[in-house]
Amino acid sequence: MKVGNLVGLVGWRGMVGSVLMDRMQTEGDFALIEPVFFSTSNAGGAAPLWTKNETTLKDAFDIDALKKCDIIISAQGGDYTTEVFPKLRAAGWTGHWIDAASTLRMNNDAVIILDPVNLPVIKAALSKGGNNWIGGNCTVSCMLMGVGALYKAGLVEWMSTQTYQAASGGGAQHMRELLTQFGTLNAEVRALLDDPKSAILEIDRKVIAKQRALSTAETTNFGVPLGGSLIPWIDKDLGLGKQSDEAGWGMSREEWKGMAETNKILGQGAAFGSVETPVDGFCVRIGAMRCHSQALTFKLKKDVPSADIESMIAADNAWVKVVPNTREATIKDLTPVAVTGTMTIPVGRIRKLAMGPEYVGAFTVGDQLLWGAAEPLRRMLRILLQA
Ligand code: HSE
Repeated sequence: MKVGNLVGLVGWRGMVGSVLMDRMQTEGDFALIEPVFFSTSNAGGAAPLWTKNETTLKDAFDIDALKKCDIIISAQGGDYTTEVFPKLRAAGWTGHWIDAASTLRMNNDAVIILDPVNLPVIKAALSKGGNNWIGGNCTVSCMLMGVGALYKAGLVEWMSTQTYQAASGGGAQHMRELLTQFGTLNAEVRALLDDPKSAILEIDRKVIAKQRALSTAETTNFGVPLGGSLIPWIDKDLGLGKQSDEAGWGMSREEWKGMAETNKILGQGAAFGSVETPVDGFCVRIGAMRCHSQALTFKLKKDVPSADIESMIAADNAWVKVVPNTREATIKDLTPVAVTGTMTIPVGRIRKLAMGPEYVGAFTVGDQLLWGAAEPLRRMLRILLQA
């Protein structure tokens, strides 16, 4: 069925929304749609310059205005989705809802969109009248863009992931807080740093004293210092499991998403009449800006030569790039600094582990605002426009 091209955009001014607008302009998406810009706070204000017929912002809570859209893309966040989406569907709207927020992600009638990995799952849902298309958790999406080939080949018995997640995953204010903390710490020891003869342990003492003395205002977003530290818990405590020796006990929501979303993206699990692949590990916030990194451990179902693993990964999609497992290539190409602002998903450190020939390690990095958030949304828009 042909999908119309009146596209409502909500949350386009926030961090994810701004990256999305930038990507849509770069890829020429606006030439294919009639955009309607909505606002939760500035209805009636001037629409952005790249609008076509509309000159003012529409009210993002106006169900009648939203209902006119063939497609709505929201990067406004979960609270907005929770409030508006049910009203819109209750009002009889049958258009396509594309959303960055996690609210609807695990609903049976929603598909987690990551088309280079799960186009068949998307197409199957589309042919059955599916109209809820939700972007995945950034860590999971970046991971599958990198090593999805191993899953597609049915090789993965289980995977453990240890993440190194950037401040941006928390939001724009978190990035500011991190940088402010770095500045505060630097200022604390500036004079000592300027003096090459100063004692490093004195610098260290001053830094830790300052970190521990950071005020509530200086740690509002992360709750504790992140600059010069790390936080091995991301998102809520799910309170899963009744006792400490049950799997799932003491798991963070981010860690839970690893297995739940990986399987849902791949079209595996009870809802698809198949078994899930176990995925588990620890999610850690570190002081990077907007790239999530992860160290992966695979138990494969059989011994596959490393060279074959590298070839499969490299051939999977246009964005993944295998980084040779050398020191030089790794420190140059496999870091948040190298990847930020690019669509490239490098996968490196690919090697067999000491536990046995089926055990393979890898390390991957992805810009969590691009493949982790904005890009799958605009690609879903394209899929719908071509449907
Ligand atoms: N929950 C992720 C994080 C970001 O905190 O890094 C959104 O997927």
